[in-house]
Amino acid sequence: MIDLNLLRTQRFLGLGCSTFGGSAATGVAKISLAKAFDQGIVYFDVARSYGYGQAEGIVGQFAQGKRDKMIIASKFGISPPPIPFKSLVLWGMRNIRKALPASRQTLAKAGVNALTKTQFTPQAAQSSLQTSLRELKTDYIDLFLLHESYYADCLRDDIREVLERAKEKGQIRAWGATLGERGCLQRQLSSSPLLEAVQFPFGQDTTYAQALGSATAIPIVYSVLNYYKSSGLLGRGDVLAEIKADFPGLHFINTLPELLLYLAFHQLQAGVMLSSMTTANNIDRNIFLFTECTRASPAEMQAVQTRLKSAMHLAPEMV
Ligand SMILES: NC(=O)c1ccc[n+]([C@@H]2O[C@H](COP(=O)([O-])OP(=O)(O)OC[C@H]3O[C@@H](n4cnc5c(N)ncnc54)[C@H](OP(=O)(O)O)[C@@H]3O)[C@@H](O)[C@H]2O)c1
Repeated sequence: MIDLNLLRTQRFLGLGCSTFGGSAATGVAKISLAKAFDQGIVYFDVARSYGYGQAEGIVGQFAQGKRDKMIIASKFGISPPPIPFKSLVLWGMRNIRKALPASRQTLAKAGVNALTKTQFTPQAAQSSLQTSLRELKTDYIDLFLLHESYYADCLRDDIREVLERAKEKGQIRAWGATLGERGCLQRQLSSSPLLEAVQFPFGQDTTYAQALGSATAIPIVYSVLNYYKSSGLLGRGDVLAEIKADFPGLHFINTLPELLLYLAFHQLQAGVMLSSMTTANNIDRNIFLFTECTRASPAEMQAVQTRLKSAMHLAPEMV
């Protein structure tokens, strides 16, 4: 078993498995898992709801024979849609969109809308944990997270009791939450030992910086590239060219998404940076950028961050 305390002292690149069994068919998911693992990725993020309920099964199958070399995080609180609806969406995503590319977004939206946010109850926690253990074909889950919870949900005695009991039985090694309310990020992150891990989206605002700086729980960050899409940096090759001209040490960065990922890796001193990756080149590049992220000095990256921020046109709440 990998010592979870390492997540408090080292940075890890984690494979986000949210598309497995959904937009990434099982075969693609298996290839991504094998490629990532072979190149040293040991952290895998999944949830009961991912891939319309199929992602855990795919990860569990892959984990056979290497479970002790993997850290698997899963979540409860959002349920996948019932089987007939799931089959329809999957069939539609794989077939209709080939003929009608414009249908892709409609189908994806239908799939997302079909996910039901459950109440965080002790019964839901218990039954979701049993299903996750069965799907993952494992005796234990390393990190078990409330999926998009409110801080009040984490404070509930009845839920904590279920999770602490599961921990005593060895069914989970640690538990925490993914953030459903941005305002509580810092409170959640510094509430350790209540929450041993907190998962939240990447940002470049002061809340994000302060939260990372004061974290006592294990920070797990996601959606760097989704942030990029809404940052106003799309298509701004000129910004990358200028930065590379001023910082020749960053010559190995090929695109603005890569620069943002590199900055994100650099800023995270310890914890996990999640990335969904199914394209082979993205896996290779992200692992390379991750291993190289200490090559630039903190002063250099501070200057790069300032330049990026001045080029961004973000919604006010993201700045
Ligand atoms: N509430 C929560 O806890 C929560 C919410 C959202 C996400 N998550 C977790 O975080 C993971 C990652 O989040 P995310 O899927 O929102 O976003 P993300 O990892 O920021 O973005 C994924 C997208 O970026 C592409 N990509 C990866 N590397 C790239 C590169 N170097 N250059 C250009 N494009 C690249 C991927 O394409 P390819 O697939 O083609 O490689 C994929 O389409 C999820 O899988 C999930 O595990 C958790």
